Amino acid sequence: MGAGANNAGRRIFSGIQPTGRKHLGNYIGAIRQYVAGQDGAAAADEAIFCIVDLHATTVAYDPADLRERLYDTTAILLAAGLDPDRCVLFRQGDVREHTELTWLLGAVTAWGDLNRMHQWKAKRELAEGKSGAFVPASLFNYPILMAADVLAYRATEVPVGDDQRQHVELMREIARRFNERFGETLVVPEHRIPAVGARVMDLQDPTSKMSTTGGSEAGTVYVLDEPDRIRGKLKGAVTDSGREVRRGGPGGGKEGIENLIEILCVARGVGPEQVEAEFEGSGYGDFKAAVGDAVVEFLTPVRERYAELRADPAELERALAAGAVKARALCGPVLADVREAMGVAGPRER
Ligand code: AMP
Ligand code: TRP
Repeated sequence: MGAGANNAGRRIFSGIQPTGRKHLGNYIGAIRQYVAGQDGAAAADEAIFCIVDLHATTVAYDPADLRERLYDTTAILLAAGLDPDRCVLFRQGDVREHTELTWLLGAVTAWGDLNRMHQWKAKRELAEGKSGAFVPASLFNYPILMAADVLAYRATEVPVGDDQRQHVELMREIARRFNERFGETLVVPEHRIPAVGARVMDLQDPTSKMSTTGGSEAGTVYVLDEPDRIRGKLKGAVTDSGREVRRGGPGGGKEGIENLIEILCVARGVGPEQVEAEFEGSGYGDFKAAVGDAVVEFLTPVRERYAELRADPAELERALAAGAVKARALCGPVLADVREAMGVAGPRER
């Protein structure tokens, strides 16, 4: 039996794709939570963040480009405030335990569950449309690798945006099934989805989420966009034919305004009532300009710091390599417990 599924403290784990072009949704829904997990009152005992290059191979990609985008993403995370001395920041492909555990967890993952995943259905359609019907098996297995990422560390919490809810549910099911079949070995983690900003919407189509792949360029604010570009995108945000700056609720027809209210709340660190009170009676134009200014103020320090960090890839590589050493030390013993529980490989030396 393993080191006890429940005697660890709070340990958070999250993964992020090495797409390089991180947007305001990623920043508000996830990256902000990572930094909170590392710092201050909400800090966990251990905060582990992984840039998931292996997941990135499940869609069409260019190998040389993957390395570069990985450095982009590393620099964005460091610029946002992750500190490699206070958290574990590493590249998934450097820690082979993740792939080994993926295979092993396949034994307690239901095919039917994988087949129900929204992301699988959406990306499969995309792959079928784009690359002449070639759909890689790894796209189907993607959620098992994601489960392995988290379960390998016996993480207790997974900060993610709302779009990853189903994947976290599945990893909980995988951990439960493992423990039932092979004895208490893995921790069943909980998602941490922020109350505000878990689903930042596209500025041009506020009924769909802001996204690098599915969204519109004008509707997507990138963390590295220049101030004028950010202001322009917010000025052009789609609203409604009314004139009141207030939330409309589900189906209320005010999705655009509601999205902007949420963004302003996060950028300024205030509640929605405060925003509604401040902009009572003012037009949409003034409101959108204020949101633009607040987002510029929110993102400018990150963009500036990014430029410095990205200029030194050797230093980024050093930070990632050091992170991988720490990660291996944490997940190696868990893998040994899993192998033993499953009866694979030779017996462990004591
Ligand atoms: P990815 O870049 O796809 O790895 O996503 C990184 C994180 O950003 C994940 O936790 C997602 O759930 C989160 N995320 C992605 N899009 C949005 C969005 N529009 N609003 C809030 N969170 C998001
Ligand atoms: N699938 C996640 C996304 O697209 C990224 C991810 C990979 C992840 N492994 C993870 C998130 C583990 C949380 C925990 O956003």
